[in-house]
Amino acid sequence: MVSDPTIPVIAIDGPSGSGKGTVAYAVAGALGFHYLNSGALYRTVALAALESGTDLENELVLRDIALNLIAKFDGESVVLGGRDVTDVLRSEAVSLAASRIAALPEVRDALLERQRAFRQPPGLVADGRDMGSVVFPDAVLKIYLTASAEERASRRYKQLMDKGMNANIATLLQDIRERDTRDSARTAAPLRQSADAVLLDTTQMSIEEAVGQVLALYKHARRVP
Ligand code: DC
Repeated sequence: MVSDPTIPVIAIDGPSGSGKGTVAYAVAGALGFHYLNSGALYRTVALAALESGTDLENELVLRDIALNLIAKFDGESVVLGGRDVTDVLRSEAVSLAASRIAALPEVRDALLERQRAFRQPPGLVADGRDMGSVVFPDAVLKIYLTASAEERASRRYKQLMDKGMNANIATLLQDIRERDTRDSARTAAPLRQSADAVLLDTTQMSIEEAVGQVLALYKHARRVP
């Protein structure tokens, strides 16, 4: 399916834990737009690979898994092979595997069309790392959403505590730093703010404030130049 360039896309990129998923989902809700959580796609491929015992360096087998993935993405929930995997996708094991497979160009290519197919009327809010740079370079608004590593670790810590899970803030901070380095250092679509993206640092911002800012920027971007 060819994606229709007249359908507006808001691309929200940024590092893990910056809150971009929550913000993107809320913006999509406010505008009545579709929502693409591209990280969930990478995470689902990683989960399918882990469960089938695939070597995480076997790029061709991983590409086939990505191409043939039968998964349903509905808002924030993901169903893989009839099973709701939304929570397991957030586990540290899947996060680590997703970060490794996302560095492989064959896997990224295999997911390209699947991501573009989310561009449906009346519009799309897409979050990830390369939404504005690679997948939707003609997005009407590109945001680079970030927060300090300490703030992101503390948000993740609170999330895990709320779920009654054990966590160590120093380990979480170290994991976040390692993932940032891996996501930024890779050659295939590395994580970085592109020149045409607006920087939004949410370290001192509530979710509501961040959503309000994105909506205001979108209104502005839609104005005739
Ligand atoms: O956004 P997230 O933390 O759920 O993403 C999971 C992993 O997938 C992360 O290591 C970065 C990678 N990713 C990517 O490389 N490109 C995207 N568009 C989205 C995610």
